[in-house]
Amino acid sequence: SGQFSGKLDVPEALTFDDVLLRPKESRVEPDDADLTSRVTKHVELPVPVLSAAMDTVTEAGMGIAMARHGGLGVIHRNLDVDEMAAHIERVKRADELIIRDVVTAKPEQTVREVDEMMDHEGVNGAPVVGDDGVVLGIISGTDIRPYLEVGEQDSVREAMTEEVITAEKGITAREALELMYEHKIERVPIVGEDDRLIGLVTMQGILQRREYDNAARDEDGRLIAGAAVGPFEVDRAVAADEAGADVLFIDCAHAHNRNVVDSAREIKAEVDADVVVGNIGTREAAEALVDFADGLKVGIGPGSICTTRIVSGAGMPQISAVAQVADVAAKHDVPVIADGGIRYSGDAIKAIAAGADAVMLGSYFAGTDEAPGRVVTMKGKKYKQYRGMGSVGAMQSGDSQRYLKEDDEDEEYVPEGVEAATPYKGSLKSELHQLVGGMQSGMGYVGAGTIPAFKERAEFVRVSSAGQTESHAHDVLITDEAPNYKPDGS
Ligand code: XMP
Repeated sequence: SGQFSGKLDVPEALTFDDVLLRPKESRVEPDDADLTSRVTKHVELPVPVLSAAMDTVTEAGMGIAMARHGGLGVIHRNLDVDEMAAHIERVKRADELIIRDVVTAKPEQTVREVDEMMDHEGVNGAPVVGDDGVVLGIISGTDIRPYLEVGEQDSVREAMTEEVITAEKGITAREALELMYEHKIERVPIVGEDDRLIGLVTMQGILQRREYDNAARDEDGRLIAGAAVGPFEVDRAVAADEAGADVLFIDCAHAHNRNVVDSAREIKAEVDADVVVGNIGTREAAEALVDFADGLKVGIGPGSICTTRIVSGAGMPQISAVAQVADVAAKHDVPVIADGGIRYSGDAIKAIAAGADAVMLGSYFAGTDEAPGRVVTMKGKKYKQYRGMGSVGAMQSGDSQRYLKEDDEDEEYVPEGVEAATPYKGSLKSELHQLVGGMQSGMGYVGAGTIPAFKERAEFVRVSSAGQTESHAHDVLITDEAPNYKPDGS
C-alpha cells in the first residue's frame, strides 16, 4: 500500500458501548465484592472513584463528601492558589479527631460576650485561654445559662469550670471517649508542654467520624484530598502540597507533550504528595511518564462536555486508550485512572476490566448537592450547571493552560468543551451508592471478589449496534425512572 493509503490500514479502537463483560462462573455475591483499589502508588481507596477537577464538580464540599464515602475529590484549579489551599485544608480538617482552629474564650470577657461568640461560631463550649495560650478553664452553655438570667456582665473567670480534663496529642478516639465517659464531659482540650492549647476533641466530632466507617483517610485519620495543578504551575503544586493534598493531578488535555512531561517531572521532585499525570491515551505516552509518575490518568476526549475530538480531530476511544496505557503501567506497577465518558456504573466497571485501577467522573456527580453551584428550574425540572474546563466560560474565569493555549485577552478562545445543564440529582451519597452497587454487580457476573482478581479474570465480548439496542431498555415506554438508568445517560 502507498504512503498515504497505508495509513488507512488502521487498528480499531473501542469504547464502552462496543464491549460487554463476558459472564463467568461465580461464587461472588455482589455485596461481598471488595472495591478497594490503589489510585496512586501510595494511596489506596475503599471506593476507587474520583470526582473530576472541574469548577462545576469539585470544591471542598464535594471533596469532603467523596472522601467520607471512600472515594476522592480532586479540587479544581480555576481558583487562586490561596483559595485552593483553603479548600484543601477544609477537606483535611473536616473529620480531624483533633480540631485545630478552636474557638476559645478569654477569662476577662463577659459571660454575655462569650455567649454571643459561641452562638455566632456555632459551638456550645470553649476552652478559656490566657494571653500566653495556657488553658485556664473551660466554659459551656450549661455553665453560662444561670448567668444569663442574673449576671451576664460577670466575667468568664467566674462562670467557667476550672478543673479541666485535658489530654495530649497522641490520644486516640477510643481513649478520648473513655475520658469523656469517666468524667461526664463532651470536650477535651489537647495541650502541649506548659499546658498550652493545641486543639480540642469533641464528642460530636468523634460520633460524626463513626458515621463514615468506610471513609478514605490518611494515616492520621484525616480525609484524603486531591488537587489539580496546571502542567507548569510549580507554585500551585507546592502550595497544594503544603496545604496537605495527598495527591496532585497534573491537569492537561495532552500530557504527552515534551514540555509537560519535563515540567511534571520537576513538580514531582518538589512535592511530598503523590503525583498523577494526565491525560494521555496511548502506549507511547505511558512510556514517557511511567518512570516518575505515581499514577497515570487516561482520557483524550471521552468526556460528556468535551468537544476535543470534534474540534481537533484527535482522540482515542476510551476502552482502547485505557487498555493501551494499562499494558505499560502494569509492568511498572503504576495505577491507572480512567477519566471521562462514564455514564453508567457498567461503564465504570468496564474501564476497570480494561486495566484501570480507578475511575474519574464529572457529569455523573455534577448534579448533586455537593457540587458547587445552585439548582435552577427550567420548565418545571431542576438542573445544575455543568461545563467543560475547556469551555469559553470556564477558560474566561480561570486559565487556558490545560489546553496549552496562551492567555490572551484580545483573542477569541478556541474552546474544546461546552457549557451545559445537568439534571439535579440530590445527595452524592445515593448517586455513589448506585455506582458502587452496579460495579459490585459487574464483579459478581465475572466471579471476582477483589479488584486485582477482577482485572485478571474479566474478559470482553464485542457488541454490534443491534446488541447495543438490545442492551438498553427497548420496545417499552418507561413509566417510572430508575435511580441508576436514564436512556440518554444524563
Ligand atoms: P465526564 O464524561 O465524566 O467527563 O463528564 C469528565 C472529564 O472530562 C474532561 N474534561 C474536558 N475534556 N474539554 C474536554 O475535551 C473540556 O472542556 C473538558 N472539561 C473536562 C476531564 O478529564 C474530566 O475529568
